[in-house]
Amino acid sequence: MRLILLGPPGAGKGTQSQRLIAKYGVVQLSTGDMLRSAVAAGTPVGVRAKAIIDRGELMPDDIMIELIADRLSDADTASGFVLDGFPRTVGQAEALDELLDGKHLALDAVIEITVDDAVLEGRIATRAQESGGARGDDTLETLKRRLAVYHAQTEPVAAYYRSREMLKTVDGMGTMDQVGEAIDTLLSARTEA
Ligand code: AP5
Ligand code: MG
Repeated sequence: MRLILLGPPGAGKGTQSQRLIAKYGVVQLSTGDMLRSAVAAGTPVGVRAKAIIDRGELMPDDIMIELIADRLSDADTASGFVLDGFPRTVGQAEALDELLDGKHLALDAVIEITVDDAVLEGRIATRAQESGGARGDDTLETLKRRLAVYHAQTEPVAAYYRSREMLKTVDGMGTMDQVGEAIDTLLSARTEA
């Protein structure tokens, strides 16, 4: 199973990825987690990423495409993967198509999780509180920028897959279990088709 989870900050991409890992034995490829590890390790990419993440902006496409290309060459991705947070621009989506074509692989589904901006603010505020501000970008100010960047640069990615008839949308406003069940239903409908 090879999937993309698309959705704004706080939509539940990471939460639902964890569920999919357990259910389908796929690996989670979260570019946000990769960058946070790079920041913690103080690598050149991490040093560059810190300020960009804290501002809620996007890292340059070429760096992100290289990160994902490297990761997709690891053996553990052979049994399938869920991309969480990538692609985030149409340029990244085009590069992913090329990468997968080169490996003679196809995506099984692109799932967009939709949640109203006001609900996202509540979720991120709760996470910031519960984690003691573990993520530097979980402030109201940076969230506003992350949301604006999502609407401007990542919603066109949804349109990109919609025009290729690959996009499925799930309502992300329910409980975590309800959203998980909606994803399961969508994936089982696909396997039975
Ligand atoms: P990234 O780490 O991808 O963050 P994000 O997209 O802002 O999303 P989050 O991780 O905040 O939310 P999520 O959708 O995973 O939701 P979660 O499950 O945690 O990216 C961070 C930064 O890295 C970017 O801003 C950018 O700078 C950079 N970056 C990353 N990828 C890049 C790329 N490809 N190109 C360029 N730059 C890139 O849930 C959120 C909270 O809500 C949790 O507390 C959870 O418990 C709760 N929750 C989840 N589901 C529900 C539910 N159904 N009901 C109630 N609560 C829920
Ligand atoms: Mg996440």
